[in-house]
Amino acid sequence: MPCVLASPYDAPMTIVDTPATVIGGPALPQERRLVTPIPGPESRKRMERKSQAVAAGVGATVPVFAAAAGGGVLVDVDGNSLIDFGSGIAVTGVGNSAPRVVEAVTAQLAKFTHTCFTVAPYDSYVDVAEALNRLTPGDHAKRSALFNSGAEAVENAVKIARHYTGKQAVVAFDHAYHGRTNLTMGLTAKNQPYKNGFGPFAPEIYRAPLSYPLRDGGLSGAEAAKRAISMIEKQIGASNLAALIIEPIQGEGGFIVPADGFLPALADWAAANGVVFIVDEVQTGFARTGTMFASEQFGIVPDLIVTAKGIAGGLPLSAVTGRAEIMDAPQLGGLGGTYGGNPLACVAALATIETYETENLAERAREIGEILFEKLGALRDADPRVAEVRGRGAMVAIELVDPETGEPDAALTSAVAAAVHAAGVVLLTCGTYGNVIRFLPPLSIPDHLLVEGLDVVAEALANA
Ligand SMILES: Cc1ncc(COP(=O)(O)O)c(C=O)c1O
Repeated sequence: MPCVLASPYDAPMTIVDTPATVIGGPALPQERRLVTPIPGPESRKRMERKSQAVAAGVGATVPVFAAAAGGGVLVDVDGNSLIDFGSGIAVTGVGNSAPRVVEAVTAQLAKFTHTCFTVAPYDSYVDVAEALNRLTPGDHAKRSALFNSGAEAVENAVKIARHYTGKQAVVAFDHAYHGRTNLTMGLTAKNQPYKNGFGPFAPEIYRAPLSYPLRDGGLSGAEAAKRAISMIEKQIGASNLAALIIEPIQGEGGFIVPADGFLPALADWAAANGVVFIVDEVQTGFARTGTMFASEQFGIVPDLIVTAKGIAGGLPLSAVTGRAEIMDAPQLGGLGGTYGGNPLACVAALATIETYETENLAERAREIGEILFEKLGALRDADPRVAEVRGRGAMVAIELVDPETGEPDAALTSAVAAAVHAAGVVLLTCGTYGNVIRFLPPLSIPDHLLVEGLDVVAEALANA
């Protein structure tokens, strides 16, 4: 069934103040505009159709069907224009249908769509590998391998680390999220909805305590690292441990920024004990946190870095990049897959990376971060239910609690999110306790939409 866009979105539009001609895609009016209740009648119809055709486990955060998106808005099938604070979960950093991406993918479509890189290789895959080897932290010799999803890349990072070390155990951390495949479910911490009923999980996965400054009772980064290392040494032993895997800022777990010194202490311990230090930058990578990779801000150089999401402007692509001697350990044919590094995704990644670099989107993420911290900081100062504002760049969250007890307030969080959706803002929640509201706008969002969306959140919180 075709998506019919209600007027005025099918007429040529002028851009208000977005840089969408360079990043951010189609020239949609950069405005929040509701022409029906959310969801509108067309979205309601499609939601009903979805429920009859799509498995119930595949959810929808916002009850609207998308018809177009670009700059800082998502336009639904009823013609409502919603402010986008989600970027499709941190994917469309360069904006939706970013012009360079559209041009590159369109040209590639007309040449060839698939050969399978492991059957007949092509340049764009190697170009992406070279770009990742250049951009990721550390000036050591590197190699990359490309896959389709974040979870698939995480699985491969673990495979590679096990092969290289000849060891089996893997340590993940409290509040971790690494995906929904079998191995990555085992690495992921949260039971509902990600793991419940899906076991058994892969063996030789252990969980260590994280540094979570709001809930750590004042533990420093060094002390939190000591606590984790002590547990690892006592319960697993470095001689059995292939890898530590950690997100520099926990994503689904609640945008938890570890205390200073936590990550470097883990990295140092791993290096001293023959353990591969895998950093999962699937959500934090590609300018999102104000630098190309969040690792740079924490002073760590991963042995293996896992990337996905923001890498290709919305096309499915992921990667493992790391030390040449580790990456080259698996035997010929041990890595790969039919679609990994698909040519359309690779040219999209090259165009996306060019956009991040030439438009200096890391700096734009820092500017967005300043606005987020200013507005959300004012909320925190005025409202004791906002326990903390945290994050880096354009990856920022607020944690909501009961001010009497300090306990997480998931009900308040859901109520605020629902009110914000109804007011025309795409907003995501997260957190082990379901009490974190996260802000992940596309880096193509204009300031006025960012400010307006934050005002909507403030109003929803005040009324909740
Ligand atoms: C840190 C992290 N790792 C891995 C994944 C899994 O990525 P995908 O959903 O592409 O499999 C995600 C997805 O949200 C993530 O945030």
